Amino acid sequence: MLKTLNELENKAMLELPGATSEDALNELRTRYLGRKGLLTQMLRQISGVIAEERPLFGKRSNEIKESLSHAIDEALEKLKASCKNDVLLKETIDVTLPGRAVRLGHLHPITRVSQEICRIFARMGFNVVEGPEVETDYYNFEALNIPKDHPARDMQDTFYVEDNIVLRTHTSPVQIRTMEKMKPPVRILSPGRVYRPDSDVSHTPMFHQIEGLMVDKGVTFGDLKGTLTYFLKQIFGDDILLRFRPSFFPFTEPSAEVDIKCVMCGGKGCRVCGQSGWLEILGSGMVDPAVFENVGYDPEEVTGFAFGLGVERIAMLKYGISDIRLFFENDWRFLEQF
Ligand code: FA5
Ligand code: MG
Repeated sequence: MLKTLNELENKAMLELPGATSEDALNELRTRYLGRKGLLTQMLRQISGVIAEERPLFGKRSNEIKESLSHAIDEALEKLKASCKNDVLLKETIDVTLPGRAVRLGHLHPITRVSQEICRIFARMGFNVVEGPEVETDYYNFEALNIPKDHPARDMQDTFYVEDNIVLRTHTSPVQIRTMEKMKPPVRILSPGRVYRPDSDVSHTPMFHQIEGLMVDKGVTFGDLKGTLTYFLKQIFGDDILLRFRPSFFPFTEPSAEVDIKCVMCGGKGCRVCGQSGWLEILGSGMVDPAVFENVGYDPEEVTGFAFGLGVERIAMLKYGISDIRLFFENDWRFLEQF
Protein backbone atom coordinates (compact mmCIF):
# COMPACT_ATOMS: atom_id res chain seq x y z
CA MET A 1 0.00 0.00 0.00
CA LEU A 2 2.77 2.43 0.88
CA LYS A 3 4.45 1.57 -2.40
CA THR A 4 1.33 2.54 -4.39
CA LEU A 5 1.22 5.79 -2.45
CA ASN A 6 4.80 6.63 -3.43
CA GLU A 7 4.13 5.68 -7.02
CA LEU A 8 1.20 8.04 -7.05
CA GLU A 9 3.39 10.85 -5.80
CA ASN A 10 6.02 10.19 -8.47
CA LYS A 11 3.41 10.11 -11.20
CA ALA A 12 1.95 13.40 -10.08
CA MET A 13 5.37 15.08 -9.91
CA LEU A 14 6.21 13.80 -13.39
CA GLU A 15 2.98 15.21 -14.78
CA LEU A 16 3.47 18.60 -13.19
CA PRO A 17 5.95 20.12 -15.71
CA GLY A 18 3.57 19.17 -18.54
CA ALA A 19 0.80 21.33 -17.09
CA THR A 20 1.70 24.68 -18.62
CA SER A 21 -1.60 26.53 -18.35
CA GLU A 22 -3.77 27.62 -15.46
CA ASP A 23 -6.49 25.24 -16.61
CA ALA A 24 -4.11 22.28 -16.82
CA LEU A 25 -2.76 22.96 -13.31
CA ASN A 26 -6.24 23.24 -11.83
CA GLU A 27 -7.21 20.02 -13.56
CA LEU A 28 -4.16 18.29 -12.08
CA ARG A 29 -5.10 19.49 -8.61
CA THR A 30 -8.64 18.19 -8.93
CA ARG A 31 -7.53 14.87 -10.38
CA TYR A 32 -5.16 14.12 -7.49
CA LEU A 33 -6.35 16.16 -4.53
CA GLY A 34 -10.04 16.76 -5.26
CA ARG A 35 -12.85 15.17 -3.29
CA LYS A 36 -12.94 12.32 -5.77
CA GLY A 37 -9.23 12.60 -6.54
CA LEU A 38 -6.73 9.75 -6.70
CA LEU A 39 -5.08 10.52 -3.35
CA THR A 40 -8.41 10.96 -1.59
CA GLN A 41 -9.63 7.65 -2.95
CA MET A 42 -6.50 5.99 -1.66
CA LEU A 43 -6.99 7.40 1.84
CA ARG A 44 -10.47 5.90 1.90
CA GLN A 45 -8.85 2.50 1.60
CA ILE A 46 -6.97 2.98 4.90
CA SER A 47 -9.13 0.32 6.51
CA GLY A 48 -7.47 -2.22 4.21
CA VAL A 49 -4.02 -1.30 5.51
CA ILE A 50 -2.55 -3.43 8.27
CA ALA A 51 -2.76 -1.76 11.65
CA GLU A 52 0.99 -1.15 12.20
CA GLU A 53 1.35 0.58 8.87
CA ARG A 54 -1.65 2.82 9.26
CA PRO A 55 0.06 5.78 11.03
CA LEU A 56 2.84 5.85 8.48
CA PHE A 57 0.34 5.55 5.63
CA GLY A 58 -1.62 8.50 7.03
CA LYS A 59 1.51 10.57 7.52
CA ARG A 60 2.78 9.91 3.99
CA SER A 61 -0.60 10.74 2.53
CA ASN A 62 -0.62 14.10 4.28
CA GLU A 63 2.95 14.81 3.22
CA ILE A 64 2.15 14.03 -0.39
CA LYS A 65 -0.98 16.13 -0.25
CA GLU A 66 0.97 19.05 1.14
CA SER A 67 3.93 18.85 -1.20
CA LEU A 68 1.81 18.34 -4.30
CA SER A 69 -0.49 21.20 -3.37
CA HIS A 70 2.52 23.41 -2.72
CA ALA A 71 4.16 22.44 -6.03
CA ILE A 72 0.97 23.27 -7.93
CA ASP A 73 0.64 26.63 -6.15
CA GLU A 74 4.20 27.46 -7.06
CA ALA A 75 3.70 26.51 -10.69
CA LEU A 76 0.59 28.73 -10.80
CA GLU A 77 2.53 31.66 -9.34
CA LYS A 78 5.27 31.24 -11.90
CA LEU A 79 2.74 31.05 -14.71
CA LYS A 80 1.04 34.28 -13.64
CA ALA A 81 4.37 36.08 -13.38
CA SER A 82 5.44 35.03 -16.85
CA CYS A 83 2.06 36.09 -18.36
CA LYS A 84 2.53 39.50 -16.85
CA ASN A 85 6.02 39.64 -18.32
CA ASP A 86 4.72 38.77 -21.77
CA VAL A 87 2.14 41.53 -21.57
CA LEU A 88 4.76 44.03 -20.41
CA LEU A 89 7.07 43.03 -23.25
CA LYS A 90 4.32 43.31 -25.85
CA GLU A 91 3.17 46.68 -24.58
CA THR A 92 6.58 48.26 -24.44
CA ILE A 93 6.54 51.91 -25.40
CA ASP A 94 9.69 53.33 -26.91
CA VAL A 95 9.68 56.77 -25.35
CA THR A 96 12.63 57.85 -27.52
CA LEU A 97 10.60 57.62 -30.78
CA PRO A 98 9.47 60.96 -32.23
CA GLY A 99 5.75 61.63 -31.70
CA ARG A 100 3.22 61.07 -34.45
CA ALA A 101 1.69 64.37 -35.54
CA VAL A 102 -2.10 64.45 -35.67
CA ARG A 103 -3.20 65.64 -39.08
CA LEU A 104 -5.76 68.38 -38.86
CA GLY A 105 -8.44 68.41 -41.53
CA HIS A 106 -9.67 71.56 -43.18
CA LEU A 107 -12.44 72.71 -45.45
CA HIS A 108 -12.40 71.52 -49.06
CA PRO A 109 -11.29 74.29 -51.47
CA ILE A 110 -14.71 74.25 -53.15
CA THR A 111 -16.43 74.73 -49.79
CA ARG A 112 -14.10 77.62 -49.01
CA VAL A 113 -14.70 79.37 -52.31
CA SER A 114 -18.45 78.78 -51.95
CA GLN A 115 -18.45 80.34 -48.51
CA GLU A 116 -16.40 83.29 -49.71
CA ILE A 117 -18.86 83.93 -52.57
CA CYS A 118 -21.83 83.72 -50.21
CA ARG A 119 -20.19 86.20 -47.83
CA ILE A 120 -19.65 88.76 -50.60
CA PHE A 121 -23.30 88.58 -51.69
CA ALA A 122 -24.51 88.57 -48.10
CA ARG A 123 -22.91 92.02 -47.75
CA MET A 124 -25.12 93.12 -50.66
CA GLY A 125 -28.24 91.87 -48.88
CA PHE A 126 -28.67 88.45 -50.50
CA ASN A 127 -30.08 85.67 -48.27
CA VAL A 128 -29.01 82.04 -48.70
CA VAL A 129 -31.74 79.49 -49.49
CA GLU A 130 -31.42 75.85 -50.57
CA GLY A 131 -33.30 73.50 -52.86
CA PRO A 132 -33.47 69.75 -53.59
CA GLU A 133 -30.87 68.02 -55.78
CA VAL A 134 -33.42 65.51 -57.08
CA GLU A 135 -35.84 67.73 -58.92
CA THR A 136 -38.99 67.43 -60.99
CA ASP A 137 -38.98 68.14 -64.70
CA TYR A 138 -41.34 71.02 -63.96
CA TYR A 139 -38.96 72.98 -61.71
CA ASN A 140 -35.74 72.07 -63.56
CA PHE A 141 -37.10 72.84 -67.05
CA GLU A 142 -40.78 73.56 -67.61
CA ALA A 143 -41.26 76.48 -65.21
CA LEU A 144 -38.01 77.96 -66.53
CA ASN A 145 -39.57 78.22 -69.96
CA ILE A 146 -37.86 75.10 -71.32
CA PRO A 147 -40.76 72.97 -72.61
CA LYS A 148 -40.36 69.25 -73.44
CA ASP A 149 -38.83 68.57 -76.88
CA HIS A 150 -37.59 72.15 -77.04
CA PRO A 151 -34.09 72.29 -78.58
CA ALA A 152 -32.92 74.29 -75.51
CA ARG A 153 -33.02 71.05 -73.50
CA ASP A 154 -29.91 69.96 -75.39
CA MET A 155 -27.97 72.80 -73.72
CA GLN A 156 -27.93 70.76 -70.53
CA ASP A 157 -27.41 66.99 -70.80
CA THR A 158 -29.46 65.40 -68.08
CA PHE A 159 -29.36 62.44 -65.68
CA TYR A 160 -32.89 61.05 -65.39
CA VAL A 161 -33.98 59.31 -62.18
CA GLU A 162 -37.38 58.46 -63.66
CA ASP A 163 -39.69 59.99 -66.22
CA ASN A 164 -40.17 63.57 -65.05
CA ILE A 165 -37.64 63.25 -62.19
CA VAL A 166 -34.08 64.46 -62.80
CA LEU A 167 -30.86 65.22 -60.96
CA ARG A 168 -31.04 68.99 -61.23
CA THR A 169 -28.82 70.26 -64.05
CA HIS A 170 -28.52 73.74 -62.53
CA THR A 171 -29.54 75.69 -59.43
CA SER A 172 -32.12 77.73 -61.37
CA PRO A 173 -35.11 75.64 -60.12
CA VAL A 174 -34.52 77.30 -56.73
CA GLN A 175 -35.53 80.61 -58.39
CA ILE A 176 -38.97 79.13 -59.09
CA ARG A 177 -39.34 77.52 -55.65
CA THR A 178 -38.41 80.82 -53.98
CA MET A 179 -40.72 83.03 -56.04
CA GLU A 180 -43.61 80.60 -55.48
CA LYS A 181 -43.12 81.10 -51.74
CA MET A 182 -42.42 84.81 -51.42
CA LYS A 183 -43.60 88.12 -52.83
CA PRO A 184 -41.16 90.66 -54.27
CA PRO A 185 -38.76 92.19 -53.33
CA VAL A 186 -36.54 89.09 -53.55
CA ARG A 187 -32.79 88.94 -53.09
CA ILE A 188 -31.56 85.35 -52.70
CA LEU A 189 -28.48 83.24 -53.25
CA SER A 190 -28.62 79.46 -53.59
CA PRO A 191 -25.47 77.31 -53.49
CA GLY A 192 -25.51 73.58 -54.19
CA ARG A 193 -24.55 70.54 -56.22
CA VAL A 194 -25.78 70.05 -59.78
CA TYR A 195 -25.31 67.17 -62.24
CA ARG A 196 -24.67 66.72 -65.95
CA PRO A 197 -23.13 63.83 -67.90
CA ASP A 198 -19.97 65.78 -68.83
CA SER A 199 -16.29 65.08 -68.17
CA ASP A 200 -13.09 66.80 -69.30
CA VAL A 201 -10.53 69.29 -67.95
CA SER A 202 -13.20 71.91 -67.29
CA HIS A 203 -16.33 69.75 -66.80
CA THR A 204 -17.25 67.17 -64.14
CA PRO A 205 -20.51 65.18 -63.90
CA MET A 206 -21.17 66.73 -60.47
CA PHE A 207 -20.25 70.34 -59.87
CA HIS A 208 -21.36 73.29 -57.79
CA GLN A 209 -23.34 76.32 -58.80
CA ILE A 210 -24.50 79.35 -56.93
CA GLU A 211 -27.73 80.85 -58.14
CA GLY A 212 -28.54 84.50 -57.57
CA LEU A 213 -31.90 86.20 -58.03
CA MET A 214 -32.96 89.77 -57.45
CA VAL A 215 -36.52 90.92 -58.19
CA ASP A 216 -38.00 94.32 -57.39
CA LYS A 217 -39.55 97.33 -58.99
CA GLY A 218 -37.16 98.87 -61.51
CA VAL A 219 -34.27 96.38 -61.45
CA THR A 220 -32.21 96.91 -64.65
CA PHE A 221 -29.49 95.25 -66.69
CA GLY A 222 -27.21 97.95 -65.25
CA ASP A 223 -27.88 96.51 -61.76
CA LEU A 224 -26.95 93.06 -63.05
CA LYS A 225 -23.67 94.29 -64.56
CA GLY A 226 -22.81 96.40 -61.53
CA THR A 227 -23.55 93.62 -59.03
CA LEU A 228 -21.59 90.96 -60.91
CA THR A 229 -18.65 93.27 -61.64
CA TYR A 230 -18.45 94.31 -57.99
CA PHE A 231 -18.58 90.63 -56.94
CA LEU A 232 -15.85 89.56 -59.39
CA LYS A 233 -13.53 92.39 -58.31
CA GLN A 234 -14.07 91.39 -54.68
CA ILE A 235 -13.13 87.79 -55.37
CA PHE A 236 -10.34 88.20 -57.97
CA GLY A 237 -9.05 91.71 -57.24
CA ASP A 238 -9.47 95.00 -59.13
CA ASP A 239 -7.16 94.03 -62.00
CA ILE A 240 -9.32 91.13 -63.17
CA LEU A 241 -10.03 91.01 -66.92
CA LEU A 242 -13.63 90.03 -67.58
CA ARG A 243 -16.14 90.29 -70.39
CA PHE A 244 -19.92 90.12 -70.66
CA ARG A 245 -20.72 88.07 -73.78
CA PRO A 246 -24.24 88.02 -75.26
CA SER A 247 -25.82 84.61 -74.83
CA PHE A 248 -29.14 82.81 -74.67
CA PHE A 249 -31.13 81.17 -71.88
CA PRO A 250 -34.86 80.38 -72.25
CA PHE A 251 -35.49 81.87 -68.78
CA THR A 252 -33.70 85.22 -69.25
CA GLU A 253 -33.95 87.94 -71.85
CA PRO A 254 -31.53 89.48 -72.64
CA SER A 255 -28.89 86.99 -71.47
CA ALA A 256 -25.15 87.23 -71.00
CA GLU A 257 -22.35 84.91 -69.97
CA VAL A 258 -19.29 86.18 -68.14
CA ASP A 259 -15.80 85.03 -69.06
CA ILE A 260 -12.57 85.65 -67.17
CA LYS A 261 -9.22 85.94 -68.97
CA CYS A 262 -7.68 82.48 -68.62
CA VAL A 263 -5.03 82.59 -65.88
CA MET A 264 -3.42 79.37 -67.08
CA CYS A 265 -2.24 80.74 -70.46
CA GLY A 266 -2.69 84.47 -69.85
CA GLY A 267 -5.18 84.57 -72.73
CA LYS A 268 -2.97 82.94 -75.39
CA GLY A 269 -5.22 79.88 -75.57
CA CYS A 270 -4.75 76.49 -73.90
CA ARG A 271 -6.42 73.17 -73.06
CA VAL A 272 -8.29 74.64 -70.08
CA CYS A 273 -9.94 77.54 -71.95
CA GLY A 274 -10.45 75.47 -75.10
CA GLN A 275 -7.89 77.66 -76.95
CA SER A 276 -10.17 80.71 -76.60
CA GLY A 277 -8.14 82.57 -73.98
CA TRP A 278 -11.27 82.97 -71.82
CA LEU A 279 -12.95 80.72 -69.26
CA GLU A 280 -16.73 80.92 -68.82
CA ILE A 281 -17.70 81.23 -65.18
CA LEU A 282 -21.37 82.19 -65.15
CA GLY A 283 -24.61 82.61 -67.03
CA SER A 284 -26.95 85.50 -66.32
CA GLY A 285 -29.75 87.68 -67.64
CA MET A 286 -32.94 89.60 -66.99
CA VAL A 287 -35.71 87.26 -65.78
CA ASP A 288 -37.97 86.40 -68.73
CA PRO A 289 -41.59 87.63 -68.32
CA ALA A 290 -42.80 84.07 -69.06
CA VAL A 291 -41.02 82.89 -65.87
CA PHE A 292 -42.69 85.62 -63.79
CA GLU A 293 -46.05 84.51 -65.13
CA ASN A 294 -45.32 80.89 -64.14
CA VAL A 295 -44.87 81.94 -60.49
CA GLY A 296 -47.68 84.49 -60.41
CA TYR A 297 -45.57 87.67 -60.49
CA ASP A 298 -46.76 90.56 -62.66
CA PRO A 299 -44.07 91.31 -65.30
CA GLU A 300 -45.56 94.80 -65.73
CA GLU A 301 -44.97 95.43 -62.05
CA VAL A 302 -41.51 93.98 -61.34
CA THR A 303 -38.28 93.19 -63.14
CA GLY A 304 -35.28 91.18 -62.03
CA PHE A 305 -31.95 89.65 -62.85
CA ALA A 306 -30.61 86.16 -62.22
CA PHE A 307 -27.28 84.44 -62.55
CA GLY A 308 -25.72 81.01 -62.07
CA LEU A 309 -22.02 80.79 -61.16
CA GLY A 310 -19.78 77.75 -61.65
CA VAL A 311 -17.95 77.45 -58.31
CA GLU A 312 -15.22 75.06 -59.58
CA ARG A 313 -14.43 77.40 -62.47
CA ILE A 314 -13.96 80.29 -60.05
CA ALA A 315 -11.77 78.13 -57.81
CA MET A 316 -9.67 77.05 -60.84
CA LEU A 317 -9.02 80.66 -61.79
CA LYS A 318 -8.42 81.77 -58.23
CA TYR A 319 -5.88 79.04 -57.47
CA GLY A 320 -4.50 78.42 -60.99
CA ILE A 321 -5.73 74.83 -61.28
CA SER A 322 -5.57 73.40 -64.77
CA ASP A 323 -7.81 70.34 -64.38
CA ILE A 324 -11.20 70.55 -62.63
CA ARG A 325 -11.16 66.82 -61.85
CA LEU A 326 -8.37 67.34 -59.28
CA PHE A 327 -10.99 68.77 -56.91
CA PHE A 328 -12.75 65.44 -56.64
CA GLU A 329 -9.93 62.91 -56.72
CA ASN A 330 -9.33 63.67 -53.02
CA ASP A 331 -5.59 63.23 -53.29
CA TRP A 332 -4.20 64.45 -49.98
CA ARG A 333 -1.15 66.01 -51.73
CA PHE A 334 -3.49 68.23 -53.73
CA LEU A 335 -5.94 69.08 -50.96
CA GLU A 336 -3.36 69.96 -48.31
CA GLN A 337 -2.16 72.91 -50.39
CA PHE A 338 -5.25 74.96 -49.59
C1 FA5 B 1 -26.79 77.56 -66.41
O1 FA5 B 1 -26.72 76.52 -65.78
C2 FA5 B 1 -27.85 78.55 -66.10
N1 FA5 B 1 -28.80 78.00 -65.15
C3 FA5 B 1 -27.19 79.82 -65.52
C4 FA5 B 1 -28.14 80.95 -65.42
C5 FA5 B 1 -28.78 81.20 -64.21
C6 FA5 B 1 -28.40 81.77 -66.50
C7 FA5 B 1 -29.67 82.26 -64.09
C8 FA5 B 1 -29.29 82.82 -66.42
C9 FA5 B 1 -29.91 83.06 -65.19
P1 FA5 B 1 -24.65 77.12 -67.84
O2 FA5 B 1 -25.06 75.80 -68.39
O3 FA5 B 1 -23.86 78.01 -68.73
O4 FA5 B 1 -25.87 77.96 -67.31
O5 FA5 B 1 -23.80 76.84 -66.51
C10 FA5 B 1 -23.42 77.89 -65.64
C11 FA5 B 1 -21.95 77.75 -65.23
O6 FA5 B 1 -21.72 76.48 -64.65
C12 FA5 B 1 -21.02 77.79 -66.42
O7 FA5 B 1 -20.72 79.12 -66.75
C13 FA5 B 1 -19.80 77.06 -65.87
O8 FA5 B 1 -19.04 77.96 -65.08
C14 FA5 B 1 -20.40 76.05 -64.95
N2 FA5 B 1 -20.48 74.71 -65.56
C15 FA5 B 1 -21.35 74.25 -66.49
N3 FA5 B 1 -21.15 72.95 -66.74
C16 FA5 B 1 -20.16 72.53 -65.93
C17 FA5 B 1 -19.49 71.29 -65.68
N4 FA5 B 1 -19.87 70.17 -66.30
N5 FA5 B 1 -18.50 71.26 -64.78
C18 FA5 B 1 -18.15 72.37 -64.10
N6 FA5 B 1 -18.72 73.57 -64.27
C19 FA5 B 1 -19.72 73.67 -65.17
MG1 MG C 1 -22.84 78.35 -70.33
